[in-house]
Amino acid sequence: MDALASLVAHSEVPAEQSSAISMPAFVKLAAQSELPAPGEAKEFELGDGIICVANVDGTISAMDNVCLHHGGPLGQGMIEEGKVVCPWHGWQYDPQTGQAAHNPNARVAVYPIKIENGEVMIEI
Ligand code: FES
Repeated sequence: MDALASLVAHSEVPAEQSSAISMPAFVKLAAQSELPAPGEAKEFELGDGIICVANVDGTISAMDNVCLHHGGPLGQGMIEEGKVVCPWHGWQYDPQTGQAAHNPNARVAVYPIKIENGEVMIEI
């Protein structure tokens, strides 16, 4: 067996391990009635973390709550011109993409979110 074939052979995941790899799943974040009003953001606890949910003109989105500058709580920020504004020093994030407005290298994680039967579900 040459070096490449050996590398490929050793990189394969055995069948018994591949079935143990968990897929992302939607979990309940909140009740629909708890969502922020249009033009507002809000924090929601999820496990050991906190998710920032933003409502931009009725479009709901979810992203990490921790600002990449110095850890400010994004869910406590305001929404201005479609961006979530960190309450500590004003960094702005696109809640759809998590992209910081002024820094192409700064992006917080965003999560798929949906509403089903009055419950807000998030894919983590
Ligand atoms: S911590 Fe968010 S802008 Fe400074």
